[in-house]
Amino acid sequence: MQKSSFDRERILAETFVGSIHFLPEMRSTNDEALELVRAKSIKTPCLVLTERQTAGRGRGTNRWWSAEGALTFSLVMEADEQKLPAPRWPQISLYAGLAICEALQQIAPGLPVGLKWPNDVFIIDKKVCGVLVEVPSSKAGHVVVGIGLNVNNSFESAPADVRGIATSLLDEKQHRFSMSDVLVCLLQAFQQQWLRWEQNGEHLSQQWPKHCLLSGRHVCLETAGRSIEGRCLGINADGALRIDTGEAIECHVVGHVKSFD
Ligand code: BTN
Repeated sequence: MQKSSFDRERILAETFVGSIHFLPEMRSTNDEALELVRAKSIKTPCLVLTERQTAGRGRGTNRWWSAEGALTFSLVMEADEQKLPAPRWPQISLYAGLAICEALQQIAPGLPVGLKWPNDVFIIDKKVCGVLVEVPSSKAGHVVVGIGLNVNNSFESAPADVRGIATSLLDEKQHRFSMSDVLVCLLQAFQQQWLRWEQNGEHLSQQWPKHCLLSGRHVCLETAGRSIEGRCLGINADGALRIDTGEAIECHVVGHVKSFD
């Protein structure tokens, strides 16, 4: 690993990561991870890590703005497709969200963290973390889980369009955090959640309500070219968002919550 603020030996010793691919700068850790999966045989779980991401991607056509001090990485994971059929794969981003909430409670106790289905982590009404899960077409059984967490990047000097809607640990707690501590804690929490995902227990529907930001609120979901409005009833056992439209209770596995109040 090139010189960095991350402690390679510690990450390998204290987490489930089997290999690390680090570059000081990358366009997008997800792009780099997808390329690694395509071009090489890698030891998984593989951590793809950078200190500066210059063209981070979000869901759909979204960009992910991250200044220096943000934690941006992707994990290349392998899963047994026989045991874990395709309909369960969208749940990965929900389990990643749970891992981030749990890690944040350890790193910065008392922060009011919440999950905006399917994969955003908020502190009150501002986004602190995003997750982008992608399944490479080049290698079966592999999945790339990209995580962007705002750690030591203050939004005080961020572009106006993101300043009001995003926050960082530094902005919330008024002190800087050790990037290695945050990363190790996140990876440990992610490993626990990954095991739970593989076990297919009741975990998701039991844990999600503790953190759900949308339950009981009026939401507008965009899915498959439709807009659905109604009161959010949380998620079902499969991780689908439940919405009471007044006429029916609809469950949706994919979609984007455009607004909530
Ligand atoms: C979203 O908010 O829609 C998801 C944002 C995900 C951003 C992370 S940063 C690390 C990884 N690499 C990317 O290009 N995107 C994800």
